[in-house]
Amino acid sequence: MAKHSEFDSPGRQAPSREKFTSTLGVIAATLGSAVGLGNIWKFPYMTGQNGGAAFLFIYIICVTVVGLTIMISEFIIGRHAAAATVGAYKKLAPGSRWYLAGTSNILAAFLIMAFYTTVAGWVYAYAFQAISGSLSFTRPEDFQQAFDSFTGQPWAPLIWQWIVLATTGAVILAGVKNGIERITKTLLPVLFVLLLLCDIRALTLDGAAEGLAFLFKPDFSKITGVTILLALGLSFFKLSVGMGTMTTYGSYMDKNQNLISTAAKVMLSDTLVSILAGIAIFPAVFAFGFQPDAGPSLLFLTIPMVFSSMPLGRLFLAMFFLLTAIAATGAMISLLEVLVSYFCEERKWRRWQATLASVLGIALLGSTATLSTSTLSDFHLLGKTMFDLFDFVSSNILLPAGGIAIALFVSRVLGPRVIYAEATNNNQIPNHRLVRAYYYSVRYLAPIAIAIILLNSLGLIKF
Ligand code: PHE
Repeated sequence: MAKHSEFDSPGRQAPSREKFTSTLGVIAATLGSAVGLGNIWKFPYMTGQNGGAAFLFIYIICVTVVGLTIMISEFIIGRHAAAATVGAYKKLAPGSRWYLAGTSNILAAFLIMAFYTTVAGWVYAYAFQAISGSLSFTRPEDFQQAFDSFTGQPWAPLIWQWIVLATTGAVILAGVKNGIERITKTLLPVLFVLLLLCDIRALTLDGAAEGLAFLFKPDFSKITGVTILLALGLSFFKLSVGMGTMTTYGSYMDKNQNLISTAAKVMLSDTLVSILAGIAIFPAVFAFGFQPDAGPSLLFLTIPMVFSSMPLGRLFLAMFFLLTAIAATGAMISLLEVLVSYFCEERKWRRWQATLASVLGIALLGSTATLSTSTLSDFHLLGKTMFDLFDFVSSNILLPAGGIAIALFVSRVLGPRVIYAEATNNNQIPNHRLVRAYYYSVRYLAPIAIAIILLNSLGLIKF
């Protein structure tokens, strides 16, 4: 059990915080949050919808410059405060309104969970169907039909969403070390190997070259202001930054963790997994005659086709969806943890009460996202289905806005001295150049870039 930090005020009983046990544990748990449906489902379909390689190029700039900066900043806030998101702001800037930044994180976590659990439900269902053998088709149109008829009915996807929520809630109740660390440490490498296998198969399909060209040969005429906003939003969503997840993880890190290198490793591995998923999917899109801009269904059409033409395909397909389900659950654990630790630490609820209330709230709101492909498909708010609305508002507005708040908090409120102490572990790691680069990015580059992209997309400025 960890020692309480020097920030714990004597009058208030500080919650005892568990800590991660090793560097590998830290990276595995952080990656457990970052790697998920964002890599395997969202990244490929958005790349497909936004012109392929040019989008990938902008995305990579966004993650390496802005996303990484915000991730390091969240680690700094969390570790410095030894508290989860809202509590961290209250501790570090008592009496100010900064805690509102934390409150908006809670809203973002809630909205993301509302549609994420829908897709996770589809993935759980596909894992189940692959295991039971009911996904063994050979023609592309059969997979299209299977996806449309599954998501076109109300009950089955809803029930799968509830199963997803019950599973995630159960893992959360098992606690930080037991639940998150153990699961991610063992299973992420297996997912990685399976993706590689999928890549090898996809690359040997007829027509693979066209898919690779789509993913890696940029056509910059496809880039617009909106594309840049989408790439930025995706980079935040991917790295789980802009809403306090990484702040909470930072609060579990001990004083010897190297924050900058941890963040860089997580960002690189996460990007690699996304690209590997892209290499598995785009050759198949072109080889089997799917449309690259098919949208959210893309994963569910291409991957089953890739495996269907392969020896032991059924076994691999089942493993693929099972591991994707596990990766998605890892990401959802970190989202739910934001909500649960908020209710526990700020409202003093018991852990099981906080978990139950969050799960029920998400089930209620999330059902409108799930029904967006069936009963509520004609219901639009601001021109979007509920599913698209939750996705758009969280990734493209709340996360980038959260990112600005985090950058301003670290650079203006905590300031250079705290940044320096946290980033070098009180002068124990001599990474002065990196710290300086990070400092300029968090103070100027990242917040200004995010602000320009946001204002542009709101139509307030034009470029
Ligand atoms: N990064 C996760 C994914 O790619 C999603 C996520 C977003 C998790 C925000 C936590 C916070 O699937």
